[in-house]
Amino acid sequence: MNAVNAVNAVPGLSSWGAVNATTSVTLDGTAGARSFVPARVRTMYFIGVSTGRSSVRSVFPRWAAALGLADATLVGIDLPVHADPSHYRQVTDFIADDPLSLGALITTHKIDLYAAASDRFDVVDPLAELMGEVSCLSKRDGALIAHAKDPISSGHALDAFLPPGYWRDRPAAAACLIGAGGSAIAISWYLSRPERGTDRPGQLVITNRSRARLEHVQSVHERLATEVPIRYELAPSRADNDAIVRDLAAGSLVVNATGLGKDAPGSPISPGARFPERGIAWDLNYRGELVFLDQARSAVAAQRLQVEDGWIYFVHGWIQAIAEVFDIEIATAGAAFEDLATIAAGCR
Ligand SMILES: NC(=O)c1ccc[n+]([C@@H]2O[C@H](COP(=O)([O-])OP(=O)(O)OC[C@H]3O[C@@H](n4cnc5c(N)ncnc54)[C@H](OP(=O)(O)O)[C@@H]3O)[C@@H](O)[C@H]2O)c1
Repeated sequence: MNAVNAVNAVPGLSSWGAVNATTSVTLDGTAGARSFVPARVRTMYFIGVSTGRSSVRSVFPRWAAALGLADATLVGIDLPVHADPSHYRQVTDFIADDPLSLGALITTHKIDLYAAASDRFDVVDPLAELMGEVSCLSKRDGALIAHAKDPISSGHALDAFLPPGYWRDRPAAAACLIGAGGSAIAISWYLSRPERGTDRPGQLVITNRSRARLEHVQSVHERLATEVPIRYELAPSRADNDAIVRDLAAGSLVVNATGLGKDAPGSPISPGARFPERGIAWDLNYRGELVFLDQARSAVAAQRLQVEDGWIYFVHGWIQAIAEVFDIEIATAGAAFEDLATIAAGCR
């Protein structure tokens, strides 16, 4: 494999390919103006905040070789959190119109990109429409398709560390999602699905520092019409989140879905915040300073806490998106999946 790690000198853009491709997109970076050069090889984009620091930079070329995609490349596009809507539209227009630009995985910007560019999508999958978010773009016969893959990939990630019957055996335990963004919507959908029967949290608690996102997630839940009780808590400060987490029943799950620790420094809770006894702390991220994970690890002995990071979510999320973008089948369990997980683990 002729792997390259060509990081473009222009801020906001980087390319990691399995072939010796030069960067196929340029951003001039001035005053928000962006110009894109058509891709010369089959190209998938990674739209995030700090894509150059993601492990996918080394994982993608190895997965591409294993999956028969050796001609393909991955290009990162960095946008600030809550970027200008016109930038989301420019990125979406470019991918829609450029023949060798096949699609994208989107993190952090899932709701904002959907809101800014949904009129550009030719097809919207039912989960993307329900949740008002897009975590993957693909194209078929020239049509641009918006997918919400997070409900599926976050479900695979939860299943990797929550045994079947976890909630049934702990009826008082809650799932507390700190941060009411795209991932929180996906996780709350997965955990509250009627198909789970009694294996659902006794309560969902969703906190956010701004009211707009709480109202958005509430509107999605109203359409889901789940029977799981859901509390929406405006939590502008760490002390607010501390108080909510402190009151959770034993066995509860606490998720850092804010991006704090990666997209911005810090943690949504204070040092010394009390985690639920015999509970689970899950940080959706696996890289960065990950203060929340450190706080959780320091509570392992006292609270008998289980601590999980976002690695398995990363693996499932990328596998779902690569399969969709390149229109190939990739197993999400079994030996073929384990081979890909092992390749990824070697790049951690
Ligand atoms: N491991 C993986 O593969 C994986 C997969 C998916 C997501 N992630 C990561 O998970 C994070 C969340 O992703 P996302 O797509 O859900 O992002 P998002 O849509 O930007 O949502 C983040 C939410 O957290 C809120 N928030 C920020 N600080 C807060 C605080 N101190 N207290 C309460 N709420 C706070 C934000 O509120 P405002 O609206 O007020 O800004 C926003 O609603 C990102 O860092 C993403 O990279 C990782």
